Amino acid sequence: MKKFFLVPIIALISCSGGPGSSSGSSSQESSSDKSGMIDPGDGKILVAYFSVTNNTEKIANYAKEHLGSDIFEIVPKQEYTAEDIAYNNSDCRANKEQNDPSSRPEIKFSIDDISQYDTIVLGYPIWWSQAPKILYTFMESYDFSNKTILPFCTSGSSPIGSSATNLAKSAPSANWLEGKRFSANASKEEVGNWLDESLKKEEDMKLYIDENELNVVWEDNESVKALKQLLPLTINMHEYGGFEQTGSIGSAITKNDTQIDVVPGDIVLYGGNAISVFYNESSWSYTRLGKINMEKTELEKLLNKSSVTFVLKGE
Ligand SMILES: Cc1cc2nc3c(=O)[nH]c(=O)nc-3n(C[C@H](O)[C@H](O)[C@H](O)COP(=O)(O)O)c2cc1C
Repeated sequence: MKKFFLVPIIALISCSGGPGSSSGSSSQESSSDKSGMIDPGDGKILVAYFSVTNNTEKIANYAKEHLGSDIFEIVPKQEYTAEDIAYNNSDCRANKEQNDPSSRPEIKFSIDDISQYDTIVLGYPIWWSQAPKILYTFMESYDFSNKTILPFCTSGSSPIGSSATNLAKSAPSANWLEGKRFSANASKEEVGNWLDESLKKEEDMKLYIDENELNVVWEDNESVKALKQLLPLTINMHEYGGFEQTGSIGSAITKNDTQIDVVPGDIVLYGGNAISVFYNESSWSYTRLGKINMEKTELEKLLNKSSVTFVLKGE
């Protein structure tokens, strides 16, 4: 498609005191039936979605019901009219935005406290094989570091394709899971099965350090599979070098070492027979095992001591 004029980046305006507070309080600034407010469930997981013709909204509601999660609608400040999304007209608003790399349509409401969520299930319609530009506005509005993001889309026929991987570039420190495309008439059961399968992968090996259960995203590799064969596993770790806790597994498992830069939260296999957990940056030849979703300051409190007990258990 041809390129259109550039729209200046618009400053984001947040509705303070509005949606998303843990108390579930909300504000609504227009007479529109779109509120964007957080509908509170059990917390921790948030379903956030954008939808113009309600296909994505339907799937998002199925997800919320299945997970008992909170839900937040990404409501555009300037809502899309039927004319705006008439995409057979190259001049329609949606097409102009998709063709403009700097386009960031403003969002009407904001989430007060994103830190309460570990996992975001993120839904959007496919527009010209990609996520609508308002999703980029959303991603750039919050700190998604160490959060797990599970994307899904609805479309006429296009797959999720590169839409999620391109969006992931705007929140590179989040743990992006593989996304899925749903048709407008997907069933609640199909959505529920997908959520169970996608989010279960997150939870099938539990890590406790000094009896604190930690939220870990495990790598999908042969070493993690081998580790699961050893469960339950207790490792007495000791501090090393001012950046890690490390300890022997007691036997060797399959490894695929490469020189990597590790950051706080990384869990790696060292030499095939030891596990290291980092609270500071380092660089060495390791096999990645997983990453703990935790702020550096919290990791320091947990790991910057002479020794810790590292326990892995199955479900
Ligand atoms: C601007 C625009 C571009 C679209 N581009 C595609 C596309 O590339 N492939 C596709 O299968 N569907 C495309 N669609 C159809 C939507 O993805 C589909 O109708 C979606 O389910 C709408 O979701 P919603 O009802 O939540 O807004 C496009 C729709 C619009 C408005």
